[in-house]
Amino acid sequence: MSQPRVVVLISGDGSNLQALIDESRNNILNAEIVLVVSNRKAAFGLERAKNAGIQTLYFPLKPYRDAGRTREEYDSDLASSIAEFKPDLLVCAGWMHIDSGALIARFPGRIINLHPALPGEFPGAHGIEDAFAAWQRGEILRSGCMVHHVIKDLDAGEPIATKEVPFEMGDTLEGYSNKIHKAEHELIVESTNLALEKLHPINR
Ligand code: GRF
Repeated sequence: MSQPRVVVLISGDGSNLQALIDESRNNILNAEIVLVVSNRKAAFGLERAKNAGIQTLYFPLKPYRDAGRTREEYDSDLASSIAEFKPDLLVCAGWMHIDSGALIARFPGRIINLHPALPGEFPGAHGIEDAFAAWQRGEILRSGCMVHHVIKDLDAGEPIATKEVPFEMGDTLEGYSNKIHKAEHELIVESTNLALEKLHPINR
């Protein structure tokens, strides 16, 4: 039986991609990563993918902007390039673009996103920093991370799984960020498996 096909979208270091690669090798992630997409050429995640023998696609927005083309055209062309790899699921693991709608239209119910905060809390690119500041103001005792289905609203689709990470006395932003990232590395693998199970409940 062939494994479900996953495309991972990244913009940076790719430590979550690495968790997926490692657990796919350990047969804990029940999927094959068939493509890694980055919108940034310098993203270290591209190296991680190449080292693992996974195909990569560097797909920058800037040439579209420079040519006066729209964000929708970019997303639509990206969706077409990804579709060639016949993915069952797209996993946004530190993908710092907000879909204009073209990706969702092409892969409805088949895109999930990792966000470093709990559902309904601290949307946007600074989830950890915003939660840390709220803790320092005495407003919260814990934050965490979630993987959710991607819808048009930012960091807001139905959660697939969450992990709470409590604040502890003496936490620094760096130390707390590390705890969140550790939790994310487990969560991304569990959530990808869960999302795939829902797509393929019994035998594929
Ligand atoms: C993660 O914290 C993710 O939640 C956020 O960007 C970070 C990506 O980390 N959106 P990495 O590139 O997987 O190391």
